[in-house]
This record gives sequence, C-alpha cells and structure tokens, in this order.
Amino acid sequence: MSDAVQTQSTPNAGFTPRVFSGIQPSGGLTLGNYLGAIKRFVEKQAEPIEQVYCVVDMHAITVWQDPEALRRQTRELTAGYLAAGIDPTRSILFNQSQVKEHAELGWIFNCVARMGWMQRMTQWKDKAGKNTQNASLGLLAYPSLMAADILVYHATEVPVGEDQKQHVELTRDIATKFNHDYGVDFFPIPEPRIEGAATRVMSLRDGSKKMSKSDPSDASRINMTDDADTIAKKIRKAKTDPEALPSEAKGLEDRPEARNLVNIYAGLAEMSVDQVLAEAGGKQFSEFKPMLSELAVAKLSPISNEMSRLMQDPAEIDRILGQGADRAREIAAPILTKTKEIVGMVG
Ligand code: AMP
Ligand code: TRP
Repeated sequence: MSDAVQTQSTPNAGFTPRVFSGIQPSGGLTLGNYLGAIKRFVEKQAEPIEQVYCVVDMHAITVWQDPEALRRQTRELTAGYLAAGIDPTRSILFNQSQVKEHAELGWIFNCVARMGWMQRMTQWKDKAGKNTQNASLGLLAYPSLMAADILVYHATEVPVGEDQKQHVELTRDIATKFNHDYGVDFFPIPEPRIEGAATRVMSLRDGSKKMSKSDPSDASRINMTDDADTIAKKIRKAKTDPEALPSEAKGLEDRPEARNLVNIYAGLAEMSVDQVLAEAGGKQFSEFKPMLSELAVAKLSPISNEMSRLMQDPAEIDRILGQGADRAREIAAPILTKTKEIVGMVG
C-alpha cells in the first residue's frame, strides 16, 4: 500500500495522538472512578503519548455545588489523581475552569449540536428526572462542553467508563458536523477507550445501578477515602445471592451482584474474570467477600494514605493545577483561535 492510501484509511491520520479525560469534582472519588478511569489513566501514562487529565469543575456545577465543598473536592480529586500515580511532569493535570478555551469552544459547539441530540442522552434523562423544566440549562448542554474539553486539544483517544460512551459518540457527531458544515478537516474524530474488567462498577446495594458518588446511600459505594474497617464492612454487607461462585464467566450471566464483585476483584487484581473464577469458583460469598476485602484494602489504602498526606498542603495542589493549566492553555489557545477563524469571527 502506498503511503498516501494508508494515510487516508487510517482514522485521524495527520493528527498527533493525544489522550484527554476528565472527572467531576462533585463528590469524593469512588472505586468506580478508580477502576473505570484513574487506574487506566495511570497505565496509559506508560505509553509515549501526550496526555491531558482534567478536574471538570464546570461540569460539576450543572447541579448545585456548595462553593466550599467544590473547592475541597477539586483539591481532593487532584490529590486522588496524584496519589494513584498521575505524574504532573509527564501528564498535564489541571482544573477545567482555569482554561477558558473550554467554555469558548463549548459555546461554538452549542451552536453546532442539535437539541434532539442532547435530549436523547441517557445521563440527561437520569439526572434531570421527571422535572426537566427545573433542570439547569447547563445540565442539558453538558455533552457539548464535554466535546469541547476533548476537541480543544484535538484529542484522539478518550479513556472512560462505559457510562460515558454515549457522550464520546456525541463528541464524534459534533466534530463530524463541524467539519462538514464548514467544509474543513479540522477536528479529529476521537475514539472512546473502554477497557478492562471493571468498565461498569455497580452499586453494592443494587446490581442494576452503577456505583456513583452521588448515590444517597454511602453503603452503595466504596470511597477512595474509606478506611480498612469501612471497606470490609461495606463488602460484608454487599448484596449477593445464596449460590456459590461458578467456575466460568458464563455462570455469572444472570447474577448481577455476583458478577459485580467478581469484576471488582478482577479489576483490582489485574486478572481476567476467568482467572478469578479458576481460583474462586465453588466458594461461598462468606469466603469470597473476605478475600475481596483484603485485596481492596491492600490496593486502596496506600492511595488513600497518600491522598491524606497531599491534602495537608493545599497550596502545593493549587500550584500543580496552575502549572498544568498553563501547559493546557498552550495547546488549547491556538486550536481555539483557528476554530474562530474557520467560523468567521474577526480576531
Ligand atoms: P464521574 O465521576 O461521573 O465524573 O466519572 C469519571 C470517570 O469515571 C468517567 O470515565 C466514568 O465513566 C468513570 N466512572 C464513574 N463511575 C463509574 C463506575 N461505576 N464504573 C466504571 N467507571 C465509572
Ligand atoms: N462527563 C464525564 C463524567 O461525568 C466527565 C467528563 C467531562 C469527561 N469532560 C470529559 C470525560 C471529557 C472524558 C472526556 O464522567
């Protein structure tokens, strides 16, 4: 194949590979965020690709946040990224509101995206509930800001948990429509990266709901800041069924709670589900749950200890975010300038 043909058939050829992902500081970090997102960012960091990780505070205020809590959770989430292994000299780590290019491109995308696209989003339907008239306009427009987060860096890869797949697909639609409407090939079409054994960690109380930092029940989730006793207690009380574990993944098909605990084990141990079941198949939960607690405490407590240490020096956390924002702006500013030129804005 000639070079020219190869270039055309490779998606995003001509764009520098770049990774972007974000997490909302709307509560504490959960085990779902760790396995679905942060742990995978840390693994990704070993690859020689530029990576941008963001604390998306502008997304968080789409639902009411107490200002003091938002400040604290922004620093705590940053401490979580650092404690888990994000190296701010290698990756770019910052909070969204310090880089105004996100908001500016978000507005342009509000004029590219269609109302119907937004109203179809599962997260909008879940979060707005029945009373859509009373939800913030920001909550509806949120995926368009998320598209701006990604595309203002011309990011080509977006590692996320399963629940964000629809938003990354919408980002692809926005990039495609922008390129088409203006007759350019300016934005890449980013790829969602949803990988690993725990791309959808479920609530410990209800195997049909995802584990979430905003669930009213604290027993439904493991927080990264939970101590060993709390983790053990939550796992001991986690909903299960009376059967023993099967010896193959197929046996978990109609057992959402059992499957969730096995997936969590696999994610933490970096094993496949089949490998876990080869060891744990035939065991009762009375035996498997203590194994899982021990593993969770061993993996999570070094991170939570390091988070507490980092939280003692908020000025240092703010300094890291400030430096990350400066680096982020260097990439985002020229892309926004060019976008405005394409749109016809006089600069
Ligand atoms: P959020 O807390 O909604 O800002 O989510 C931040 C990242 O964590 C996104 O990539 C989500 O897909 C991921 N995530 C959140 N909750 C879960 C979960 N229960 N299982 C797997 N990934 C999750
Ligand atoms: N919407 C994501 C969530 O709630 C967070 C997010 C915002 C994000 N902007 C992003 C994730 C850009 C990946 C890329 O989990």
